[in-house]
Amino acid sequence: MTTTLIDNIGLLVTNDPAAGGLTAERHEAAIVIEDGLVAWLGDARNAPDADERVDAEDRCVIPGFVDSHTHLVFAGDRAEEFEHRMTGHAYAAGGIRSTVAATRGASEDALFDNAVRLAAEMRAQGTTTLEIKSGYGLTTADEQRLLRVAERVTSETTFLGAHVVPSEFADDPAGYVELVTGEMLAACAPHAKWVDVFCEGGAFDVDQARSILMAGKAEGLGARMHSGQLAVSGGVQLAVELDAASVDHCTYLSAADIDALASGNTVATALPGAEFSTRQRYLDARMLIDAGVTMAIATDCNPGSSYTSSMPFCIAVAVRDMRMSPAEALWAATAGGAAALRRTDVGRLAVGTRADLVILDAPSYLHLAYRPGVPLVHQVFSGR
Ligand code: NIG
Ligand code: FE
Repeated sequence: MTTTLIDNIGLLVTNDPAAGGLTAERHEAAIVIEDGLVAWLGDARNAPDADERVDAEDRCVIPGFVDSHTHLVFAGDRAEEFEHRMTGHAYAAGGIRSTVAATRGASEDALFDNAVRLAAEMRAQGTTTLEIKSGYGLTTADEQRLLRVAERVTSETTFLGAHVVPSEFADDPAGYVELVTGEMLAACAPHAKWVDVFCEGGAFDVDQARSILMAGKAEGLGARMHSGQLAVSGGVQLAVELDAASVDHCTYLSAADIDALASGNTVATALPGAEFSTRQRYLDARMLIDAGVTMAIATDCNPGSSYTSSMPFCIAVAVRDMRMSPAEALWAATAGGAAALRRTDVGRLAVGTRADLVILDAPSYLHLAYRPGVPLVHQVFSGR
């Protein structure tokens, strides 16, 4: 087995809870990778020999980004809808249906090629773990097809048959929930690790969301949720009650929602790209973190509300507009994303974790927010 030594690391962020501090930073450090895992990590002066050596030339090394919320399997784009919004119109959940129509009309190969193209964009920007949702099929066959594509790209796949009620069920939303929790779930569960629901006005209400997540859990899937994107709803508290791994958006929250998040095991995931691209008000991460809520940052990459694949962009917006400190934003985009996927083998660097890491073209991760829009990824390593 070849071993690789990365040395001359000016600043190494480990996020190792055992090492103290939020991001647990070390100066003048080195890492040894063996069989895709971190085999050694410490002071550069004590680094053991290895077969290969990579000189980080004093750059900053961080854990690879964990993008815990994406919708990569779709066809077409909605640039005109974006233009419409940027000239004064509001975002509404209904735009999802136009991507559904384009996606249903696309071949599985075309959907796969598009997902791979976006996953490559993500990797080039430092993402080493990503989640992918279905949700643009909304028939049993199409949702299963989307998940078959997703599972070729990642092991973190999510069944989102409950994205919106498709037009053909406009007069029978209860019938659609029955389909999602019955035949569609049965066809999709073998290809999914998670079940998600968009619990919001214009999509699914709290009672519908409860039955969908309970049905998914009964099939062995973990729960996640979209809620609080457009208004306060009971979705956030339901997510905590059902022990969802994550509730995403959280732009609009009541005091009771914040209390529930602070006392439960559900991560609140900020989606800065969605707020940016829909010109919504920004989630107040400062308030959540101060209340003791665990936070993640994800791109929500999709052709409607957030067509960015860039975790560095999301970090910059979270720092500038959501009041996260640069260290909190980096943690949320790495260890926080891992927590939102209930993973401990990624999002941090310690002996035994996956050797998923990024050498930044910068002396510090501060530059991710300080130099917005600048490509700062020098080299990406993926363990397994
Ligand atoms: O997370 N909120 C629901 N789903 C996506 C938007 C999808 C779309 O507009 O196509 C989101 O923002
Ligand atoms: Fe989303």
